[in-house]
Amino acid sequence: MGVASPLDTVRTVSDLRARIAAWRAEGLRVGLVPTMGALHDGHISLVKNSVADCEKTVVTLFVNPAQFGEGEDFGVYPRNEERDAEMVQAEGADLLFAPGVEEVYPEGHSTKVHVGGLGDVLEGEFRPGFFTGVATVVTKLLLQSLPDEAYFGEKDYQQLQVIKKLIRDLDIPVTATGVKTVREADGLALSSRNAYLTPEERAQAPILHGTIAQVAEQVGRGENPRDLEAWAKGQLERGGFWQVDYVTVRDAATLDEAADASRPARVLAAAWLGKARLIDNVPV
Ligand code: PAJ
Repeated sequence: MGVASPLDTVRTVSDLRARIAAWRAEGLRVGLVPTMGALHDGHISLVKNSVADCEKTVVTLFVNPAQFGEGEDFGVYPRNEERDAEMVQAEGADLLFAPGVEEVYPEGHSTKVHVGGLGDVLEGEFRPGFFTGVATVVTKLLLQSLPDEAYFGEKDYQQLQVIKKLIRDLDIPVTATGVKTVREADGLALSSRNAYLTPEERAQAPILHGTIAQVAEQVGRGENPRDLEAWAKGQLERGGFWQVDYVTVRDAATLDEAADASRPARVLAAAWLGKARLIDNVPV
């Protein structure tokens, strides 16, 4: 047995299209897993789902400058393409698309995709421009590769809903599949940004999941969502989070405020612990 050859990697849209066209000509089913790299078991779960459902899996690795705000962590976002490529190859991925910024946003690029309504609330409110950056790059990645299925994590639940909406609104012939959030044993959702936590903050971080899980359970038992939201905010503040951007019970599809659990609902939260802004969500 020889050493495994490195994962096939392309960096231009035309090379990506040529690879995928060859698979299509053979009638193969293609799955796409968009990422910004710094991969962990959450991302790997998306790759596993794609490899299980599709005959070919393309992973994309692009730290998208358009979705980072002024003063956010674009410059320090962890980057390690070699390690990421080895991880996804070990799961059976077939191709890595790792374009440079000039390939995705060549000089003069000026078109943006804005998902009104869904993209303007919660994360859209606290991170202006974020979802426009996400929607623009995801639209491009979907049109560049035209996969049968594209996989996204429920960890970023609002992002998943925004992407489903743009696919419907723009008639993109792709299915977006949501994958369950992968968590540490203590409940903390895996995130590349957990690396920003000090050991003490890391010990406090699971309170976020514990709190929203309790809200979900009590809303499910018929208690008032607004009362529980107020309780949860205090709970997080007492647990060491210095700012709670939101903790809220929403309709699972529209993200409008939910009055009760008569329709599928979701508890979503974003809060700051030290230098890290953590987000999480759970179903009611
Ligand atoms: P990134 O943060 O790298 O995440 C890539 C995908 O992995 C997203 O669909 C995200 O929801 C999923 N993911 C992250 N942590 C997860 C976890 N703990 N469990 C399950 N899935 C998880 O999200 C982005 O990149 C970007 O916005 C992107 C969609 C690639 C557009 O640039």
